[in-house]
Amino acid sequence: MSGPREAAWLRIDVVTLFPELFDVPLRTSVIGRALERGIVDVTLHDLREHGLGRHRSVDDYPYGGGAGMIMRPEPLHAAIEPLRQAGAQVVLLDPAGERLTDPLARDLASSGRLALVCGRYEGIDERVRSLVDREVSIGDYVLTGGELPALVLIDAVVRLVPGVIEAESHESDSFADGLLEGPQYTRPETFMGLAVPPVLLSGHHGEVARWRRREALRRTLRRRPDLLVDADLTDDDRSEIARLMAPEEGDSDS
Ligand code: ADE
Repeated sequence: MSGPREAAWLRIDVVTLFPELFDVPLRTSVIGRALERGIVDVTLHDLREHGLGRHRSVDDYPYGGGAGMIMRPEPLHAAIEPLRQAGAQVVLLDPAGERLTDPLARDLASSGRLALVCGRYEGIDERVRSLVDREVSIGDYVLTGGELPALVLIDAVVRLVPGVIEAESHESDSFADGLLEGPQYTRPETFMGLAVPPVLLSGHHGEVARWRRREALRRTLRRRPDLLVDADLTDDDRSEIARLMAPEEGDSDS
């Protein structure tokens, strides 16, 4: 949230009517540190500054009638255009957009410069869609505006920027290879009668890696079988899945 820094690996500009919503999330934890260290730069732009007339109006009644107010195109155009000209990929947060997924987050993380446009009120004038490069939704539900979705996108993207967290940690994330991540354990060795799987205490790295892969496959098969269609699977993975699908393996829901 500091001023623009040449060295930032990723620059994100956010166009919003509520810049204050970003204060705490952008100052906290992993994202806060990435901004503090200048690896990523986030600049907030208050859309109200481009509002029209004495009241700096940004919305108006819908043509054809109906409930609610619609965001006018001119203030958004005035805010977006300089960012586009500076080379930003312009992303509108909108429930009708493409779904935010791990591959999309990785793609956006390597884009160099993003401009996130947050809608508010009941909607935006349709012509604003022609000012943006892509539209992104964080899921099939409607929020009161694009600010929280923009924060979700920023969090998902910034943690993938090199140097923000250990590469190993997002390489083993759920979704990184198209699978859910398997179970993880820390101390104590036994908790409420539940013991840590002995293989994790064995010190045998090969066995641990094989066990983790098997558990990731098992969890994905049980919880999100749809992900297996596009997952990166080896022949061994396919045999393991066939084994897991055999009737006697069918009862665990991990
Ligand atoms: N604005 C309102 N709801 C949204 C959603 N689900 N995703 C992105 N932007 C939104």
